[in-house]
Amino acid sequence: MEARQSKHTANAPMGRTTHGSLYDPSSGHFRALTVYAEDADCVKAARDLVGSYLKAWSLRYAIDDVQLIVSELVGNVVHHAVPDERLAMPGAKRRIDVRLMTWPGLLAIGVSDEDSTPPDLPAGEFLSPDLAGDFSEALLPDRGRGLLIVQRLADAVWWSPGLKGTGKTVWCRLDLDRIWDEWWAEYAA
Ligand SMILES: Nc1ncnc2c1ncn2[C@@H]1O[C@H](COP(=O)(O)OP(=O)(O)O)[C@@H](O)[C@H]1O
Ligand SMILES: [Mg+2]
Repeated sequence: MEARQSKHTANAPMGRTTHGSLYDPSSGHFRALTVYAEDADCVKAARDLVGSYLKAWSLRYAIDDVQLIVSELVGNVVHHAVPDERLAMPGAKRRIDVRLMTWPGLLAIGVSDEDSTPPDLPAGEFLSPDLAGDFSEALLPDRGRGLLIVQRLADAVWWSPGLKGTGKTVWCRLDLDRIWDEWWAEYAA
């Protein structure tokens, strides 16, 4: 696994392990990791690392959603990103930077690549699942589902151009209270 990590824990060390600790102003965290699209295990490496960070931050209940989002976004870089011309060098690996940030009640994920082309963010649902009925497979497009899934899991999805004029970052914001409520309703009630 080739993944480079940098770490910075905002404010105080982690203490309590309850949901309530999210409201402690000292519970912000930041981690960044770098993987390369040409490494066969890059998606798994990113998934595993974000999972371990969330576990350490007592955010286990968010792991499934965050890992699925990270898988889709890193997978998109692998499948779609073509680095901007002046960065592209024959044989060079495509760099992917994954950032994970938390604030009390909020979590943000950023996945950066070297391609300035924006992602094709779906404008809305293709079709109501109720209306599609038995024909859903035939009526839903066979591409463009990844970001739709990401939009379903996150509270907001957007992208920003790279600060140095190249590349971009796809961002997601997750409301931790909502995820906690959903997790609690499903697993703990
Ligand atoms: N990191 C990226 N770089 C460039 N284009 C992207 C990136 N992510 C997504 N896209 C574009 O957005 C489209 C929609 O992505 P997605 O919903 O994941 O569908 P899929 O990957 O199945 O095509 C992709 O087909 C691609 O054209
Ligand atoms: Mg995709």
